[in-house]
Amino acid sequence: HKGRTPEEVVKKYLQKVRNPPEEDCTICMEALGGPSGYKGPDMTSVSRTESIGRLTQCGHLYHLQCLVAMYKNGNKDGSLQCPTCKTIYGVKTGNQPPGKMEYHVIPHSLPGHPDCKTIRIIYNIPSSIQGPGHPDPGKPFTARGFPRHCYLPDNEKGRKVLRMLLVAWDRRLIFSVGTSSTTGESDTVIWNEIHHKTEFGSNLTGHGYPDPGYLDNILQELKAQGITEEEEKLQ
Ligand code: APR
Ligand code: ZN
Repeated sequence: HKGRTPEEVVKKYLQKVRNPPEEDCTICMEALGGPSGYKGPDMTSVSRTESIGRLTQCGHLYHLQCLVAMYKNGNKDGSLQCPTCKTIYGVKTGNQPPGKMEYHVIPHSLPGHPDCKTIRIIYNIPSSIQGPGHPDPGKPFTARGFPRHCYLPDNEKGRKVLRMLLVAWDRRLIFSVGTSSTTGESDTVIWNEIHHKTEFGSNLTGHGYPDPGYLDNILQELKAQGITEEEEKLQ
């Protein structure tokens, strides 16, 4: 995506629409047949056939300029996510700060998984200065509770989740910088939308075992970030 303008990135994922339906664009809530509600001063007038587009995979329609405005609001990584159905175009990446992810097998069983050992993942992110893509670039951020230890059963499904978490880490999707909903602290490292189990033998926080639905839930959360088994095989 390097060198591509936001408009060029968005257009890659769009098909032309000749006759706009009598519907509203769900980004700006204005009619698809009329102009985008996001006509910024820098937005030159676009030709009639180009003013709306259909996302190629999911088919949802939007004003081109609404999608461009949404793209500019994000971390501009060349990917686009349909705001209606969350279909991801391109490879979604996040703004996780630099750090380290390690894992190893420990010879103990998790509650609910008596027949296998346990994978322990250790994340370590030091406090530092916010970069581009963070809420307040140039300002420091804190990093509480690191190293953070997380647990998966060392069975087939658990190892599959681990491989996908390694992809999520490379794409900077596991943590973010923002306001912690637990502590209320702002400008700090927080979990992103992929839930981890941080308790080993107990379940005092709700982030522990047993939890029979956990592996299926995290697979869904990984999918929502664009990480599927097929992609994991390509790595
Ligand atoms: N373990 C795992 N996940 C957690 C925990 C926890 N102890 N606490 C919150 N989460 C989940 C929440 O359910 C939410 O979905 O992380 C997401 C973001 O919550 P925040 O409170 O904003 O995240 P953060 O500040 O990073 O987490 C707080 O997690 O690992 C611990 O040491 C960390 O005590 C801190 C807590
Ligand atoms: Zn869609």
